[in-house]
Amino acid sequence: MGIIKNLFHVSLQEDSIKEALDFYCGKLGFEEMFTLKVADFRKILSMEDSDKNNDLAWLSYVRVAPEEYLEIFNGVINPPEFDSKRIDHAKAPVVHSFALGCEDPGKTIAELEKRGVPVRNGFITDPTGCRIRIVERKSHRAAEKEHLFNSLAGASIYVNDLAGMSAFLQNMGMKKTGETETAVKLVVGENEQYLELLQATGPVETGDEDLLGHIALQVTSVADAVWTWGNNGVRCCMQPFMRNQPLEVKKGTVGNFAVDGCEIVWVVSGEGNRFEIMVQPGDTVQQKWEKEHPF
Ligand SMILES: [Fe+2]
Repeated sequence: MGIIKNLFHVSLQEDSIKEALDFYCGKLGFEEMFTLKVADFRKILSMEDSDKNNDLAWLSYVRVAPEEYLEIFNGVINPPEFDSKRIDHAKAPVVHSFALGCEDPGKTIAELEKRGVPVRNGFITDPTGCRIRIVERKSHRAAEKEHLFNSLAGASIYVNDLAGMSAFLQNMGMKKTGETETAVKLVVGENEQYLELLQATGPVETGDEDLLGHIALQVTSVADAVWTWGNNGVRCCMQPFMRNQPLEVKKGTVGNFAVDGCEIVWVVSGEGNRFEIMVQPGDTVQQKWEKEHPF
């Protein structure tokens, strides 16, 4: 078994969290798991010095399928001050699209059109402009209810150095399944999700402003990831902004415990892409919610 279990979530920095939830939950039929407000973060980070914007939503979790989520950030609130200032999205974005899987694309597309969601060439677009590819993918989870989409199928990103990024991700255990002059497709984890790398025609910006904040990978063990990947030249760090202070490659490393209870470290690629590397210890907010809400 590899280190990577699955593509756990993609995080999006949306211009309006309300419009994003109206779209993802209202139109696409996903369930909102929980929303954290600015105040929740201040409390956890012991930032008691301000109450500005405390009541505003900061982060919402949306279930696509069991252990496959969207993490939707309020892109109008900027930590650590949590001022209101809309993210000025990168002009040369990293994200091309992410993909949602369904049993029957024809049926799903017909239903989307009935719900007033335009479909163009197999893609839909969220309120902030993120493109979503509709792909056929048999569900790997037993479902109790009928779902328009059954899985988070993958993501496509533009990269500056196609060969370099492909090698980097293969050193994390992703397997190359297809390659052309301008694209490389890799399979992620045990459920055949994909990460597609597309050669950018001009430099892409991998700063904080991308619509795609980061990609989260669920691993079998943070300690094993730090050790195994470290020996392949892929270094983990405690936070994305600490990429220049990589964790020592030793056995038994413990990551951060985040607000949702996940144990987390980060990998930042040579060109700046952020990968959240996480484990659920058994009682995360997500796991508790999933127990109470069968798929
Ligand atoms: Fe995340």
